Amino acid sequence: MRLVLSALVPLLGLFIWRSKYTLYYNILTLPDLPDGYYSEGNTSSLCSPMKSAPDPDFKHCEDLHLWDLHGPDGTVNERRVIVTCDSGRRKWNTVMGPLIDPHPSGSLWMHSTTSGQTTRLTLENFPQGHTFHPLGAEAYPSYSGNASYLYVVNHAKDKTVIEQFLISPSSSVAKYIRTLSHPFFISPNAIALTSPTSFYVTNDHVFTRRLPYIGSIVPITETILGLPLSFTAHVTIDPDETAEKPILSHTFAAPFVSFSNGVSISPSGLEVAIASSSLGRIYFYSRNTTTNALTFTTSVFVPFPPDNIGYDDEGNLIVAGHPHFPTLGKLVKNEIDVAPSWVVSVSPVAGETTTTQYDLKATFPASNIIPSPGQNHTVSTLFQSNGKVFSSSCTAAKDSISGNLYVSGLYAEQGVMICRS
Ligand SMILES: *[C@@H]1O[C@H](CO)[C@@H](O)[C@H](O)[C@H]1NC(C)=O
Ligand SMILES: *[C@@H]1O[C@H](CO)[C@@H](O)[C@H](O)[C@H]1NC(C)=O
Ligand SMILES: *[C@@H]1O[C@H](CO)[C@@H](O)[C@H](O)[C@H]1NC(C)=O
Ligand SMILES: *[C@@H]1O[C@H](CO)[C@@H](O)[C@H](O)[C@H]1NC(C)=O
Repeated sequence: MRLVLSALVPLLGLFIWRSKYTLYYNILTLPDLPDGYYSEGNTSSLCSPMKSAPDPDFKHCEDLHLWDLHGPDGTVNERRVIVTCDSGRRKWNTVMGPLIDPHPSGSLWMHSTTSGQTTRLTLENFPQGHTFHPLGAEAYPSYSGNASYLYVVNHAKDKTVIEQFLISPSSSVAKYIRTLSHPFFISPNAIALTSPTSFYVTNDHVFTRRLPYIGSIVPITETILGLPLSFTAHVTIDPDETAEKPILSHTFAAPFVSFSNGVSISPSGLEVAIASSSLGRIYFYSRNTTTNALTFTTSVFVPFPPDNIGYDDEGNLIVAGHPHFPTLGKLVKNEIDVAPSWVVSVSPVAGETTTTQYDLKATFPASNIIPSPGQNHTVSTLFQSNGKVFSSSCTAAKDSISGNLYVSGLYAEQGVMICRS
């Protein structure tokens, strides 16, 4: 026992030191964020709910992802936004709890950036009695109007699985193809496609809330200590939709990252970013486009525990997250109405950001929290709010065609906010 303790204490110290910014600023102290700051101007005039006609199911949205429709010449003709929501999240959340009622289903939505319409996708052929709680989702781009595979992480009643659907630019139906399950789908969270039938998937924890007895304490310990247990895998599936064993391969592409959450592939395909929520960092990897193997290159601090991430067309990584975990925890338990939001852009720059004062346009600059983003990157705030203008930001996407910034809120009543430029 003494031996175990003497080994554990320095280890614990190391983990706490590695999580120090997160621990101090995002857990112990509430950052003094404004009601609303948007890098392009006044939030009151530029930001509004994505869905103007309220729908009781369009709330508590987790992921949002830009779906590109390419014309015959290969250029992007139209861009849509796929959104995953779960109005029953307060009764079913396998990441943060609780696990009370898995039955009311979550929903998938499609927003057209041209018409401004937000439509619910009807699930076709979805197995009866199969519960549906969507988290991360990504669709392969459509070419010349063809249909695309859409993959959705589903933290269903008994196990977290990945649903494969087919969506078409000309309909509002998500046709169920099959459910993908694997012993190493322990806690899938986010997906980034490498082809129509292969993808990276993060697993946010190794110890999940589903575990009997220890499920309410061990996962939170894994989170707070930043234990490097979670991982990102690369998965290839059989293009034959009727194959008896749909998963052809599962490899650990990026093991030993604490609380791996969002994942995204750069526009060139050569870089992959993974968000570590518990360490408040983004890990960058170079990607072998033939084997999908990842090689760690560098990591960059962000001023909050990042949730989902996504590259824009210019190669900036848009990162959304939770500036104050305890407030989010209270929101999950319905003890409070809103939790803060923060969205930053992590952009490549030549050389080192040595200055300790940066992001100074923001009401509450990132440099108030993190010393320097490190070499070759800079961090700048796109949106921040104490929760009044927008609550519990979870994912953000920047559409360089329309100039719009989309932000989803994990427990936001308005579901998704659009900020125009
Ligand atoms: C933002 O716009 C609102 C209403 O359009 C206005 O009342 C407010 O003063 C503006 N804020 C700033 C900082 O300009
Ligand atoms: C749509 O076309 C693209 C490009 O030819 C192809 O890669 C993709 O597999 C097609 N999608 C489906 C679902 O067949
Ligand atoms: C990708 O991996 C393959 C197989 O290991 C190797 O032959 C190739 O050189 C790698 N490509 C790059 C760009 O490293
Ligand atoms: C920053 O970029 C330079 C030049 O590309 C490279 O040599 C260096 O290793 C990079 N630093 C980090 C920490 O990635």
